Amino acid sequence: MHKALRGPFTGAPTSRAELVERASRLLGLVGRTPVRCSRLGPVELCVKLEYSNPTGSHKDRIAVYMLRGLAEEGALEPGGCVAEISSGNTATSVAWASRLLGLRAVLYVERRVSPLKKSMIRAFGGEVVEIGDEPEERERAVEDMERRGCVYLNQSGNEYNWRAHYETSGPEILGQLHWDLDAFVMGAGTGGTITGVGERLKEALGSVLVVAVTPRASALAGGPGGDVIEGLASTRIPSLLERHRRAVDRVIEVSEAEAVEGVKALLRLTGIAAGPSTGAALVGVLRLVEEGALDRGVRAVILAADHASRYPWLLEALAGGAGP
Ligand SMILES: Cc1ncc(COP(=O)(O)O)c(C=O)c1O
Repeated sequence: MHKALRGPFTGAPTSRAELVERASRLLGLVGRTPVRCSRLGPVELCVKLEYSNPTGSHKDRIAVYMLRGLAEEGALEPGGCVAEISSGNTATSVAWASRLLGLRAVLYVERRVSPLKKSMIRAFGGEVVEIGDEPEERERAVEDMERRGCVYLNQSGNEYNWRAHYETSGPEILGQLHWDLDAFVMGAGTGGTITGVGERLKEALGSVLVVAVTPRASALAGGPGGDVIEGLASTRIPSLLERHRRAVDRVIEVSEAEAVEGVKALLRLTGIAAGPSTGAALVGVLRLVEEGALDRGVRAVILAADHASRYPWLLEALAGGAGP
């Protein structure tokens, strides 16, 4: 019986105008995530809960923005195919958004990625193509998507990624905190979030400290590529981050082990159960406090990009020491 029911995302758009209109409707489902603030010693920490987005991360925002933008430009036709090389949250978000827009999505995912992540992509309607982790594999993936006639989204260089945060996450933070904040700290992957939000906050507030957190010895920290914190760039600086780097005042290095300690601390101090990149952001804030770069009474904002439950290994680590 329920098959006869129609909803706002039933059927597939048949014209470009319809595709763009549906993408705008889909934007109504993403963002406007809650912010929770807690006093931590001398500072107030506010966490924007991006795991409240439909597939559980901030990447839902950029998936819809990239698809809508390409449809508006005429690069993407109704019923068309999109592709991304991602082993992280973006793959799931692109699969989800594509399905609701009547598009086909092919996600190139490293073979070693957890079965849970691959299942999530498939569950939301994406096709998973497994690839190795050597650089040539990316080139081969791009050739393969061209052969299939798919549009490569390339979040690491795609301006709609930056724009999604400049036009949505940034204004939301300003509104929710009544323009009253002093620092924004965020792990940098593509850099879309730190630079998009950072630039918006700077334009609105003038003075605000924008700090990118990066894995220890990463390319952004001037190193050869070091620790692994899922979602954050380690071996290279994405072109999007390079182009918008002026929005970033400082870079703080955080080790993989410190990021996990950060997750535990966030849970203990605020009750928020977030993923490792959020733990790394908290470590960044605490380091600024220790250094005296954040004084008494200031308000620092971080973004809980995703939830702890997305990482089975992290849950094991929490089980070994998350108590009060
Ligand atoms: C969990 C998580 N945190 C942080 C980031 C970094 O976000 P951005 O790519 O906007 O720099 C990502 C990106 O994939 C992520 O998946």
